[in-house]
Parts: sequence; structure tokens; C-alpha cells
Amino acid sequence: MKYDVEITSIDHSGRGIARIDNKIVFIPKTAIGDICTIKITKTKKNYLEAELIELIKPSVKRKKPYCRFFDQCGGCDLMHMSYHDQLRYKEETVKNIITRYTKLNKKKIKSIIPFDDPYFYRNKVNFKVRKKIGLYQKKSYDIVEVDRCIIADTYINKLLQLIRETIDLSYVKEITIRSSLNRNDVMVIFHITKKINVDSLKKEVKSIIFFDGKDYEVEYGNNYIIDTIGIYQFMISPTSFFQVNTKQAQVLYDQVIDYVNPKKNDIVLDLYCGTGTIGIYLSSQVKKVIGIEINKEAIKDANKNKELNHADNVEFLCGDVSKLIHRFHTEVDIVIVDPPRAGLDDEGIQNIKRIQAERLVYVSCDPITLARDLEKLGDTYEVEEITPVDMFCHTYHVECCTLLSLKK
Ligand SMILES: C[S@@+](CC[C@H](N)C(=O)[O-])C[C@H]1O[C@@H](n2cnc3c(N)ncnc32)[C@H](O)[C@@H]1O
Repeated sequence: MKYDVEITSIDHSGRGIARIDNKIVFIPKTAIGDICTIKITKTKKNYLEAELIELIKPSVKRKKPYCRFFDQCGGCDLMHMSYHDQLRYKEETVKNIITRYTKLNKKKIKSIIPFDDPYFYRNKVNFKVRKKIGLYQKKSYDIVEVDRCIIADTYINKLLQLIRETIDLSYVKEITIRSSLNRNDVMVIFHITKKINVDSLKKEVKSIIFFDGKDYEVEYGNNYIIDTIGIYQFMISPTSFFQVNTKQAQVLYDQVIDYVNPKKNDIVLDLYCGTGTIGIYLSSQVKKVIGIEINKEAIKDANKNKELNHADNVEFLCGDVSKLIHRFHTEVDIVIVDPPRAGLDDEGIQNIKRIQAERLVYVSCDPITLARDLEKLGDTYEVEEITPVDMFCHTYHVECCTLLSLKK
């Protein structure tokens, strides 16, 4: 069914909102003020989903997307808005979510920290391969063939080109390319069903990995790359988490340090520590840091990163935060958490409360689970301030850094 509608607002995942007979309908890649023809793609009891068919009268807010694949590709959501409008949208989204799901006043939420260079910033892209190389459409396994991705690092785009021109991809399902900030350390991971010839890449990268669905095997070079945040270097293996916007990660970590307000004698717990980045970045300013992380490979990297950066006062534990946190008591002065999108679980929250650290800094990539957790922490911790940070320009995703202090 097709309808003509006007877009009146944008939801928290970047979709335009209109109404048909008082029923709410979500339409991706539309802007407030667009008058457009849409086609219903899903009918649910309380809402509809639709796709944009034609712009009858485009919003004055609309901007021509810089990427020619934007309309089909599932990677970006907001490229039809100016960067300024994207920032306003993200800031408002955080304010709306936090005030809707918590008792906090929106004055607690500071202005979003923008990124100064919002194109070609991603250090990691996972390209899909099925006869063609590309990226998935939104909520679909259909591949949009792309010859470049303008939010990916330029070196990733150069390699994409080289791979397209020189490598037989008949036995390849996916290609992950990870690049370091200065581009002299690049890893390519081929997800394969049978070994392939990758000689043409060997002069261009430091690491080529084959992944057969089970094991990661080094085909060429190292099984890691090294990236830099500030004055620190971080070794990253194929499965370890690393912030995808390396330059803005430094801005995020500086915000974390500002909220931590480190003192020489502080003992810090860095929960969900990945390759140890935040703890190591902070280590010279405190007495001791203990990082906890579930991914064994990431913990191996974290221990190497400790050596690489001479961070002798940092210790890493491998395991589930909710289990290992039982080992800690009131000796801890500061707790930093940076969980995945699902946020904290109840056992983790109960134990954070039990430890009674003076300050808690919560780094979150999902404002909805952040709001839920802030409410649960609310009987023990006071939210002082929330600072959104734009790490993922042109997508709807927004990072938030929150400072909480122990209630007296
Ligand atoms: C958002 S990343 C943060 C990593 C790190 N703080 C950084 O900035 O690079 C979340 C990390 O939590 C880890 N993780 C997920 N569930 C966990 C759990 N239950 N216990 C410990 N770590 C977990 C993931 O492997 C991932 O490295």
C-alpha cells in the first residue's frame, strides 16, 4: 500500500515518523518536513514500517548525501541531514530518552562533543561478499555493491579497490579490514570456505588472516595491528574490540579522565576493559588500575599493551564482570564501566553499589540501556553530568559519558 505523508519527527534510531489514520509509521532516511510517498513494508499492531518511494516536496532541512550509495546502504542513517543537524538530533535524542526513562533533569545533559572531521573516520569495515563486494541493506541480507565507503578510512577504500581488482573472491564470504590511525598497520581478515591467493596484498598490509568460521589463521605477517591513542600504543588482534573512531576515542577517553578526576592514590576498576585502553590511558595518574574483560584474546592484547606502554600499575583479569567483581570491596576509589549495548546486568549493578566507590564513570553506546541502569543505580549514585560524544558520524548511534557520585 502506498500513502502520501508528512514527516513530523525522527525516532531514536534515525527513522522519520509520520501518521496514517492515527497509527504511527516509521520511514528510514526521511527528514522532518519531507512530504513523501511511502510504501508500507511491515504492519504491526501498534505501528507500521515503510520505505520512502518518492519525495513530493523535500524538507528545506534536506541535504544531498555525499555518498551515492546512501539510499540503499544500511551503514549510514543520517547523511541526508547536515552534520550540524545530526548533532542537534543526537543531543535531543539523548535528552528525550534520559528524561523519559529517568527522573533526571535535562540540564544534566551537556552539549554533544562533535567530531572535527566527520568523513573517512572508521578504522574497521566488514564488507559482505556474494559475487559482489558491498554492505548490507538495512535489516536485510541483500548486498549493496559499493566501490568505496565514505565513512571508512581512505586506506580501507584503497584496499577495497585492490581486492576487487586482483583477488578471486569465489570462496570468500566476508572481508574485514582494520586500519591504524597512521595507516602503516593494516589487517585484512578473509572469511573463507577455501584458501585463496592473496599475494597482491602482501606489499600493502602488515597482516592477512584467514577465518574459516571457527579458527583465525595467520596467512601473512602478524596476528595483530598496533594503533595509537594519544601517547599510548595498543595491540589489537582479529577478535578484540577497539573503538572504531580512533581520533575521537582520544576525545572520549579525555572526557572519561576529566570525570574520573584522578588522584595519585586512587585504585580504579576498569570494567569491560577490552584491550585495556581506558585503564592504560589513565594509569600514569593513579596508583593502580584493575581491568576486567571476558574476551581471552582481548585480555592477551591488554597484557601486551601493558608491557608496550610500561603501565606496571595495571592488572587485567579475564572473565565475566558480574562474577569477578565479587573480589572487590571498598578499597576501590573509582569504577569505570564501558559495557556492550545491552548495558549492565543486575548482579553487576548490585556489586557496583556494594563497592561504594566515590565516583562511577559510565561509558555507554546505547542511551536506552544507560537510562535503565542509571535508574537502577539511583538509590546509591547521583548522576552529576552526561556528555554525549559523536563517535559514529552519519549513523544514528551516539556515545554517552556519564559521571555519577556516591550519595552521602
Ligand atoms: C564497548 S567495549 C569497551 C572496550 C574498551 N573499554 C574500549 O574502550 O576499547 C565492551 C567490552 O566488553 C566486553 N564484554 C562483554 N560482556 C562482558 C562481560 N560479561 N564481562 C566482561 N567483559 C565483557 C566485550 O568483549 C568488549 O571488549
